[in-house]
Amino acid sequence: MKDLSLYIHIPFCISKCYYCDFSSFTNINHKIDEYINSLIIELDLYKDKIKDYSIKTIFIGGGTPSCINPRYINRILEFIYRNFNTSDLVEVTIEANPGTLDKEKVQIYMESGINRVSMGMQTLDDTLLKSIGRIHSTKDFYKSYEILRNGNMKNINVDLIFGLPNQSIDQVISSLKKVVELGVEHVSYYGLILEENTKFYKLYNEGKIFLPDENIERMMYHKATEYLTNHGYKHYEISNYALPTYECKHNLVYWEVRPYLGVGLSSHSNMRGKRFFNTSDINIYIEKLNMNKLPVEGEEIIDKDTEMEEFCILGIRKIEGLSKIEFKNRFEVEIEKIYGDIIKKHIDNGLILNDHNIRLTKKGLDLSNLVEVDFLK
Ligand SMILES: C[S@@+](CC[C@H](N)C(=O)[O-])C[C@H]1O[C@@H](n2cnc3c(N)ncnc32)[C@H](O)[C@@H]1O
Ligand code: SF4
Repeated sequence: MKDLSLYIHIPFCISKCYYCDFSSFTNINHKIDEYINSLIIELDLYKDKIKDYSIKTIFIGGGTPSCINPRYINRILEFIYRNFNTSDLVEVTIEANPGTLDKEKVQIYMESGINRVSMGMQTLDDTLLKSIGRIHSTKDFYKSYEILRNGNMKNINVDLIFGLPNQSIDQVISSLKKVVELGVEHVSYYGLILEENTKFYKLYNEGKIFLPDENIERMMYHKATEYLTNHGYKHYEISNYALPTYECKHNLVYWEVRPYLGVGLSSHSNMRGKRFFNTSDINIYIEKLNMNKLPVEGEEIIDKDTEMEEFCILGIRKIEGLSKIEFKNRFEVEIEKIYGDIIKKHIDNGLILNDHNIRLTKKGLDLSNLVEVDFLK
């Protein structure tokens, strides 16, 4: 049996944060029930297609999966357990917004086999939280965290954002200090991306918000890395840090270009030599599934060259870098034979190192996009 990871998208949020352009909606709660029914139909349609796969990880993301009734989450997972091969399942993550958890919800998550919760903490500064449109306060975060621990949740991730308008380095480190004190197992630490179609994008273009300058933003990154690694966290991907053994197994599948299936609105999949993605229109999604048709909107065949590109672009994001042996085993050719010029160019300009693996230097972590684009043919 081949391994497979499963992503499940829940596109509902209580309100839209000012920086976020993820596929999520705030005013269509009346569609939740219909959406979950469609999701179950979609899973059912994949039953035969993935019968020779064993599901290793499940990630329920969004949107905010924790804002819908936990019985829906239980229904989805029970369907998966009944219909797919999950005997080797090791990690089941759900994303949660602080302030949306209570004791009963966490209990249902635990009973449903969820063993990892990823919380969007963003910062532990109340003024900043308000200024980015979050629905919760730091107090809500602590309360949700306590509920999770009391409910016996042993693997918690927090998402933090740096480079926010009016954010200082001290504020960033102060949030991380509290994270370390709590003993959170995993930290995702994202630099703010100014996305089109967000409130921040508009405010920025109107000159109403200002972002920290690039040097400060980079300092926020390197100081945080230093702080977390000094406190026992392994920096294992550009934006991710984990206490020993707590690396996110699901996300490693993406970075290592191993097979995954995405179900739900806008989800992406990569399996059987194909990349495909679902519609981002919730009405079309529901309509198609009501007719027992998959809501796939586009697909691309992945030939060997494309697979090599992906392997390098995504793999270089891991701090341990690209394994030359793995490249050779997978593609039956030395990596230097295909990418020798690119490797030499970026060794010369100080962005990568080439020993047993090919990996980013400290300078390369700041300029990883320059390396990534060069792997594109
Ligand atoms: C789906 S949300 C996490 C779960 C939940 N919806 C929440 O916000 O608490 C995914 C995460 O992506 C990050 N994110 C979203 N938009 C971002 C942006 N424009 N720049 C940087 N990070 C972003 C945030 O840290 C957020 O927690
Ligand atoms: S960050 Fe999370 S809660 Fe905020 S809009 Fe995006 S998905 Fe929703």
